[in-house]
Amino acid sequence: MASTSTHVTVTTSLLVPSTARMRPPALALLLTAGLLHAQAAPPAHSFHIDYDGDCFRKDGAPFRYIAGSIHYARVPRPAWRDRLLKMYMSGLSAVQVYIPWNYHEPLPGLYDFAGDRDMEAFLDLTAELGLLVILRPGPYICAEWEMGGLPAWLLWKPDIVLRSSDPDYLAAVDSWLHVLLPKIKPRLYQNGGNIISVQVENEYGSYYACDYNYLRHLLGTFRALLGHDVLLFTTDGTQADELRCGTLQGLYATVDFGPGSNITEAFGAQRRVQPKGPLVNSEYYTGWLDYWGEAHASISSAQVARGLADMLQLGANVNMYMFQGGTNFAYWSGADFKEVYKPVTTSYDYDAPLSEAGDPTEKLFAIRTVISKFQALPVGPMPPATPKYAYGRVALQKYANLLDVLDILCPSGPIQSQFPLTFEAIKQAHGFVLYRTHLPRDIPDPATLSAPPHSVCDRGYVMLQKEYQGTLERDGQTALQMTGSEGATLDLLVENMGRINFGANTSDFKGLLGNLSLDSSPLSSWLIYPLAIDTAVQQGWPHAAPTKSSSRGGAGPAFYSGAFETPDIAWDTFVKFPGWSKGQLWINGFNLGRYWPQRGPQQTLFVPGSVLYPGRPNNITVLELEGAPPTPFLLFLDRPFFNTTLSRSTAATE
Ligand SMILES: *[C@@H]1O[C@H](CO)[C@@H](O)[C@H](O)[C@H]1NC(C)=O
Ligand SMILES: *[C@@H]1O[C@H](CO)[C@@H](O)[C@H](O)[C@H]1NC(C)=O
Ligand SMILES: *[C@@H]1O[C@H](CO)[C@@H](O)[C@H](O)[C@H]1NC(C)=O
Ligand SMILES: *[C@@H]1O[C@H](CO)[C@@H](O)[C@H](O)[C@H]1NC(C)=O
Ligand SMILES: *[C@@H]1O[C@H](CO)[C@@H](O)[C@H](O)[C@H]1NC(C)=O
Repeated sequence: MASTSTHVTVTTSLLVPSTARMRPPALALLLTAGLLHAQAAPPAHSFHIDYDGDCFRKDGAPFRYIAGSIHYARVPRPAWRDRLLKMYMSGLSAVQVYIPWNYHEPLPGLYDFAGDRDMEAFLDLTAELGLLVILRPGPYICAEWEMGGLPAWLLWKPDIVLRSSDPDYLAAVDSWLHVLLPKIKPRLYQNGGNIISVQVENEYGSYYACDYNYLRHLLGTFRALLGHDVLLFTTDGTQADELRCGTLQGLYATVDFGPGSNITEAFGAQRRVQPKGPLVNSEYYTGWLDYWGEAHASISSAQVARGLADMLQLGANVNMYMFQGGTNFAYWSGADFKEVYKPVTTSYDYDAPLSEAGDPTEKLFAIRTVISKFQALPVGPMPPATPKYAYGRVALQKYANLLDVLDILCPSGPIQSQFPLTFEAIKQAHGFVLYRTHLPRDIPDPATLSAPPHSVCDRGYVMLQKEYQGTLERDGQTALQMTGSEGATLDLLVENMGRINFGANTSDFKGLLGNLSLDSSPLSSWLIYPLAIDTAVQQGWPHAAPTKSSSRGGAGPAFYSGAFETPDIAWDTFVKFPGWSKGQLWINGFNLGRYWPQRGPQQTLFVPGSVLYPGRPNNITVLELEGAPPTPFLLFLDRPFFNTTLSRSTAATE
């Protein structure tokens, strides 16, 4: 490998006309050295590692990348070009891109690469804008994305061992890679495209399985489908354990660490597994994610810039994670598990250099200044922030309690089962499932309705005779007191808050995982309703349907609707939920994600202008789960509000 590199270097510098070293004596030497065949195959479009030179070589010349991560699944398609252009104008040479398998294969063998999921259109734009691509096609990606990018349908086989050489898991992986990687192959740098390297798996060393046969299998599949020239690599944390289980002969080992780490020690860890070759930090953290109920994360621009400068000074290759974070629309947010289940917020702003709405921040300019000291910035101005608009207050009306529209939300009717079934058992990936039974006897004195610990995954909203009783939580409250009469209808609406994306507990089943009991005796004879709320809302519901008379009571799961008009141009906006509790928001059928102002820190949801229609009513649908304010309205603002006291860069406006 090393001798090949040296050979390629010499020929390149001789054959490229602009190279100062191109002199007749050297050319003569080349010819007399009998290396003429090299001229027939100039190393145009080659990308590989020079182990002796401790660097990458692109078209034969030493090359170092300064890159940034962007996830196309977290940015609406109409904004892709704007975000990529801003990344290019920041001085980046490459973007690092994850491909979330579950976003593209919603059911086994059913593939979706249309619209916002048109991954190839995104890659076309990177090429058009002159950016190289470091591709991370998984199959597991983490990314704080639902189940780390693995499809929930893998759990239809409950004892499957994810991310291992379990034959059922490998069969699913292989059929996906046989669809995905042929789309990638013509885009590889050596095939004339802009993808310089491809990551295999992701931080595999952090996973308990440590199954080398699995990594070897992936290596074989990637090689078979992408060819022998492409640079394949791994990324792991800098702990010895992580690097032991995450690396494999034949895959170039890179590391990831943030501004808090000691750079000498972190790259020292890479050197212990990869004594020669370029230094690479594949995830240099520009900020961090937010969990519901915890403080808004932020890292100072000065600290991020200083760490970047130090790494670039060492000649290292750096990818900034994230450069543009974006939004966990719909149900795509993941969760961590550290003693308890920790769901990730809808915003994936990440305190990144480009904000959630794609605007350049002070951090972006600090980073760009650092980059300018190491390589020339593109000529021209940074595109400005996109305009935001405060559409103001929009009144909503209650449309119906969720329990009164089950015929619309579950047209195929309920599944009968003696005992509760999981989401996976009834093939529901995301969203909500309703579990219904009837009280087996009169309960004149308060009795305890309870679930085994950690078995309500992830939140359950309890109704008796359609009256809201309260909430059960996965790692929180698991019991409620109630009275009632024999035959009374007991409903539990269970919400999936996002499957775990990191650590040992990735087989994260959803729904009611144990028996619900009344004073310790298990309830049985369930009707289980898988709810297709998004299907209904995408078809215009409830706007196209006659209004149902709203049922009594202000609390419990219910739908609200309303509309607002925009001026001639539909600008981006942020929506606040004054007095609301927790739920899901759609505008014009587009699922903008979960809101949960009662828990925070996130108080507003980002609404991209591309989901709004200028000059026409924009239909709002809200599913409020616990209780709306007496006079329900939403407030559209021109800035986000993550948490007034904890966020540096945002301020509250009411
Ligand atoms: C980083 O670690 C190295 C080696 O352990 C040590 O010599 C150096 O002082 C550390 N640097 C900082 C800034 O702590
Ligand atoms: C958000 O800020 C408020 C003060 O406005 C503070 O009381 C609260 O603890 C913060 N919430 C979180 C989740 O950090
Ligand atoms: C999560 O993983 C840990 C470690 O393997 C295990 O002890 C624990 O039981 C798991 N928890 C759940 C809820 O599966
Ligand atoms: C529910 O209870 C029944 C009867 O006791 C039992 O057979 C079943 O395994 C229980 N289900 C769960 C998920 O614990
Ligand atoms: C909004 O709802 C109205 C009916 O209230 C309907 O005519 C219109 O098509 C809907 N608009 C969109 C964008 O769905």
